[in-house]
Amino acid sequence: MANYLVVGGAGYIGSHMVRTLLDAGHDVTVLDDISRGHAASVPAELLVRGDLGDRALLDELFTQRRFDCVMHFAAFAQVGESVQEPLAYYRNNTSRAVELLDAMKHAGIDRFIFSSTAATYGEPVRLPIDEDHPTVPTNPYGRSKRFLEQVLDDCEQAWGLRSVRLRYFNAAGAHPSGEIGEDHSPESHLVPLLLQVALGQRKDIAIFGTDWDTRDGTCIRDYVHICDLAKAHMLASEHLAAGGGTRTFNLGCEEGTSVREMIDVARKVTGHPIPSVDSARRAGDPARLVASSARIRSELGWAPEFDTPEWIVRTAWRWHRSHPQGYATS
Ligand code: UFG
Repeated sequence: MANYLVVGGAGYIGSHMVRTLLDAGHDVTVLDDISRGHAASVPAELLVRGDLGDRALLDELFTQRRFDCVMHFAAFAQVGESVQEPLAYYRNNTSRAVELLDAMKHAGIDRFIFSSTAATYGEPVRLPIDEDHPTVPTNPYGRSKRFLEQVLDDCEQAWGLRSVRLRYFNAAGAHPSGEIGEDHSPESHLVPLLLQVALGQRKDIAIFGTDWDTRDGTCIRDYVHICDLAKAHMLASEHLAAGGGTRTFNLGCEEGTSVREMIDVARKVTGHPIPSVDSARRAGDPARLVASSARIRSELGWAPEFDTPEWIVRTAWRWHRSHPQGYATS
């Protein structure tokens, strides 16, 4: 049993991580300012409400509790918003994370699991994308994450921090219990938007571009289930606990699904016709993003369990149907 600090643990990915850690019998403290997360997504007694940039709070936490490992999920994660508000991204995703690392250094904690992203690669020059693919992010979001990876390298050199950086492709789905799930406001991700149409909350889904150089003209993404992401973090943490060194791993199912294919899956799962409207391309979208996750499969034995779009949409649908207003439903 280990003691974890989960920063941003009340967010979409963080809350699934907290559930996975608790199910495995670990001790968990959640630090979250609830600016984008939901207090209802984690057990109340585990939640410390506070700002990641609040150094006094971090020092107090690290003095009061002895953490074996820090998992860091607290970040802004919308590409379009990052182009409009770059400084908010560098402040939140980079500067505040630097403060967290400094507090860890002072507390003598040397294990860190970092939520990174496929956006660190930028426009793919080859597919599938492996971890040695060039990292040339094309927006402030990707740069803010890539920069922190470089900060982690420097911390390792300077004081022996060991980290695992997990580069997520398209996180989607919800916990199979239907108790926690995805609730962003405003929502911009394809899967929850499709399910909002099925719930009658939106008229239709806009397809952002139908003239891409892909099999059906729509963008291709590699969707990975949120619980499989959480499982990968557990394996990463066990790797560090066993004395393993710094690693970078992609997390995707290695399967490309187009927007039209995802719409068809959602129609099948929900039984709703989900009308679509062909629309203009969204700025900054690459045509295709598909991961090679061979490295984490072979090094840590990770294998996604919910490895089809249908599984992903089924679990998301269970959550959306029982929580039509997200956490405000409960
Ligand atoms: N899409 C639509 N209509 C919509 C919403 C999305 O056609 O209403 C399309 C997008 O153009 C894209 C696909 O559906 O082709 C998936 O879009 P999402 O917004 O769900 O996800 P992204 O691929 O844009 O973003 C994901 C992560 C980001 C990460 C990015 C890397 O959510 O955090 O991949 O490029 F930065």
